[in-house]
Amino acid sequence: MLYLSDKAFLILAFNTAGMLLINKTLQNNNIKTDLVPAPPETGTVCAIVVRVNENDLETSKSILSREQVVYKDIIEDKKLKLQGLIDRKLGLAVSVEFLEILKKIEAGDDLSYEDIVYLLKTDKPKELDVIYATADRIRKEMVGDAVEIRGAIEFSNYCCKSCKYCGINATNEIAARYRMTEEEILEVVDNLHREGIKTVILQSGEDPLWSTERIIKLIRIIKARTGMRITLSVGELTKEEYKELKANGADNFLLKIETTNRKIFEDIHPDDDYDRRVQCSKWLKELGYINGSGNIIGLPGQEISDIARDIMFFKEMGINMIGIGPFIPAKGTPLENLPHGNIELTVRTVAVTRIVCKKVYLPSTTALASLDKDAQVWALNAGANTIMLINTPEKYRGSYRIYDNKNMVDMDSAIYAVKKSGRKFPAYLKISKEMNNVD
Ligand code: 5AD
Repeated sequence: MLYLSDKAFLILAFNTAGMLLINKTLQNNNIKTDLVPAPPETGTVCAIVVRVNENDLETSKSILSREQVVYKDIIEDKKLKLQGLIDRKLGLAVSVEFLEILKKIEAGDDLSYEDIVYLLKTDKPKELDVIYATADRIRKEMVGDAVEIRGAIEFSNYCCKSCKYCGINATNEIAARYRMTEEEILEVVDNLHREGIKTVILQSGEDPLWSTERIIKLIRIIKARTGMRITLSVGELTKEEYKELKANGADNFLLKIETTNRKIFEDIHPDDDYDRRVQCSKWLKELGYINGSGNIIGLPGQEISDIARDIMFFKEMGINMIGIGPFIPAKGTPLENLPHGNIELTVRTVAVTRIVCKKVYLPSTTALASLDKDAQVWALNAGANTIMLINTPEKYRGSYRIYDNKNMVDMDSAIYAVKKSGRKFPAYLKISKEMNNVD
């Protein structure tokens, strides 16, 4: 078997088109590549770079030069080493197994599936403290102290799918259906832009009347008049459609796997195929999107081992944004009488995901906020670094009820969470100037 170095290198491009060309050229020449977020020291926010193994570096360079593909720079992909996680004070309060895991984290080595299960299961208070503190440290090293604030517009709750947990599924007759017009959406976008928000998330059910062409028209207008980054969350599409959307201005895409347990996935998604969902996620990555995934904690039949596999999946797929939220029952759905997911387990999953996946966007989710006013603070203290504001106009908001008692996360609640967790607002927000907490 070929020896694989554990060193890797990052090829930086001048722009997204260049990055995609580098990636394609190398792949066509049978070089295994991976698309990953650029490290902070390159100074590029949200950029994606091409990673190759050390063994392939020289061949890659000659392929690029032979095919006259330009790149900006090549740098080593440094492992994150953390000093001082283990100290004598831990003593007998932690197990030998736990100390072995800490050693790996200190050395920047990957954790195994068993390690992840251990971290998700332990009930030793000292170990838990260390897990949260370590996640918080890694968050600080990898993405800094500023909490990214994004604005979401839930522009249609029509959906042709029947996902059993979701309150806006096609068969739920309780849901009052609405579809925002382009004008209504643009009015909200303009407001977000005025507040200095840099990313707008456009989310909807899988609504056939909001065709890809119609979404393309909308995102072209948004790009032209605000230049904002655009995140789409509109479900499963064909590769061609994802490609068109990307070419017309979409930057990020959220499509959660929800669970990597195939049986549970197929049970709760009567219209979806597990392999197809994974395929969509791969396409998004291939096309150069910052790709979002995530899971739901507390699905019927889900075990800790499933959650550990979810985290491995995020890491192996190179997912850039990972939304982790508790299951919350929604009236009118087949799961309406089940209990909600555990908050502590959800926050702990955020922490372990930060430890394993390192340089990723981890939102402190709206679903957490819906279960407890302080749950977003807990997630921010356990590795999360972004908050998504709900900016759907008031008259529609109550109808986008994917689960019950969905909390209204607005700027005030974001201020509360950011302040209470002792974090900062990013400098780009207008409101940062009023807060003495400027980045
Ligand atoms: N409980 C928790 N999360 C839910 N979502 C949808 N319905 C529920 C629910 N009942 C989440 C899914 C989806 C995201 C938009 O909302 O993870 O991807």
